[in-house]
Amino acid sequence: MKRTCFNTELNEKNVGQEVTLIGWVSKRRNLGSLLFIDLRDRSGIIQVTVNEGVEAPDIRNEYIISVTGKVSLKEKENPNLKTGKIEVIASKVEVINTAKTTPLIIADETDALEDTRLKYRYLDLRRPVMQSYLDIRHKIKLATHEYLSKEHFIEVETPILTLSTPEGARDYLVPSRVHHGKFYALPQSPQIFKQLLMIGGVERYYQIARCFRDEDLRADRQPDFTQIDIETSFLDQDQFLTMMEGLIKEIFKKTINYDVKLPLRRLPYKEAMDNYGSDKPDTRFEIKLQDVKDIFANSEFGGFKDVEAIKAIVVNNVASITSRKVIDELTLEAKKFGLGGLSVIKVENDELTGSFVKFLSEAEKSALKAKLGFANDDIIIIAAGKYNRVCPLLGALRVKYAKQLGLIKPNTYDLLWVVDFPLFERDVENGAITSTHHPFTRPRDEDLKYLDTDPTKILSYAYDIVINGYEAGGGSLRIYNQDVQKKIFTVLGLTDEDIKRKFGFFVDAFQYGTPPHAGMAFGLDRLTMILGGTDNIRDVIAFPKNLAAVCPMSLAPNSVDEEQLKELGIAITDYEK
Ligand code: AMO
Repeated sequence: MKRTCFNTELNEKNVGQEVTLIGWVSKRRNLGSLLFIDLRDRSGIIQVTVNEGVEAPDIRNEYIISVTGKVSLKEKENPNLKTGKIEVIASKVEVINTAKTTPLIIADETDALEDTRLKYRYLDLRRPVMQSYLDIRHKIKLATHEYLSKEHFIEVETPILTLSTPEGARDYLVPSRVHHGKFYALPQSPQIFKQLLMIGGVERYYQIARCFRDEDLRADRQPDFTQIDIETSFLDQDQFLTMMEGLIKEIFKKTINYDVKLPLRRLPYKEAMDNYGSDKPDTRFEIKLQDVKDIFANSEFGGFKDVEAIKAIVVNNVASITSRKVIDELTLEAKKFGLGGLSVIKVENDELTGSFVKFLSEAEKSALKAKLGFANDDIIIIAAGKYNRVCPLLGALRVKYAKQLGLIKPNTYDLLWVVDFPLFERDVENGAITSTHHPFTRPRDEDLKYLDTDPTKILSYAYDIVINGYEAGGGSLRIYNQDVQKKIFTVLGLTDEDIKRKFGFFVDAFQYGTPPHAGMAFGLDRLTMILGGTDNIRDVIAFPKNLAAVCPMSLAPNSVDEEQLKELGIAITDYEK
């Protein structure tokens, strides 16, 4: 049973060699005198031919077998397999273990529902495409360790049982058995600890860090996920971003052999919102938001009166397929973004058409034409209202149309930094001031003057790396001046008491010689998604949770014994039915 190599290590050069392979039976075809087996191991599939006369035990799909035989050229190549030019002519076949019929087909194309795949994840993981995601994930980590070690970073672990960390999601709490009524929080990120490591003189830290956030799940969010978490002392923003560009270039090269062109574009947040309606713009296609407020300064249309923003996008070649129903769907979408509706104009036979056109004067029509430059079969979608609602709506619509119309070329990567984020944002609903990133983000020096007068005007030294419309990572320069930190807490409405309770040990530490420092965290899962070519984060995590934050395999979270609860001093009052 001694395996001589992995299946896909073999090629035409090995013809004539005797090998022993071990793997799972992926497929078998019994032609009476001949038996063909597709043998699968982690590396891929190879064809095994068992001729009459060679003893072949009863073999079924997913049995584990070992095959000894000679590598031989195939008469007809199978272009779908990496090993398609060769086969192994078996002289000995042994069954190592049997298997029940599997509840899902083990192949890249599977029609199994996702919950079935997650329930039998160990079988789902046998699918070659799933193995390829795990492989990419591993290669990203390897490239990270190599690059950062070369740049004098060291990996340091930080606690998992800790106090609340300031990333703005809900915490996962762990009750203490020894201290009844007290709880650890699982870290939403190692943020506080990595800054303390800078105060601790580590200078360059990184960690492939597990993070835990109790938030609404999406296609690119998991409750426990992994960051490539990084912090440095004594680098300014330019130096740090350049160093991080080196890392991302290395990761792309070593995983998918793609050359990222450096330096990456740096797009101010305001421009990202103005032009793409998103702080993580997908810039692989052209559609841009255009400001048309001036054009409608004297508009008769009620919806355009006294509004903060009026913006438009033009989508080419869709007027003829834009039915009443499609327009109703677009309006529904606008309502989801908190707007009353939107105006859709079609361009047909050199005329603007649609129910909204009656509100347009001739001057407005020609100004629109001059500004937007549309053509026949285009549609113009105009949204008016609060800037913070108009932009995200049109941003979402431009992406929806790009996907629907196939405007995004496959296997293209568009990487950029979004920089100059506002330090604070106001809650759209209640107007409260919160940190855009976290309260340790450094305000731009030239904006410090607004701290007492108009804090929402302050921009920060914060940056996100955006790849193909995903926020693949983010970070900032940190505050290292105690007075500034104190003021920021005050703007956020934290009393001295709050500060002491939430960040006491952290604020104390800053008094003992804090170096200027900066850092960021890449989402390892998101990078794997992008490089693996899937838009589902669950595909790139070996044992993920579903959208209800449940693991369908282990059934976590689950109830626990009364005895355990008693030890923890916990009584459940509100059981889920
Ligand atoms: P942030 O909260 O932006 O920053 O997180 C950094 C990156 O982590 C990824 N990410 C997630 N991935 C999967 N599921 C989630 N629920 C999830 N949440 C975040 C994203 C994101 O860009 N401490 C700061 C970093 C710093 O300032 O150094 C932080 O955690 O790709």
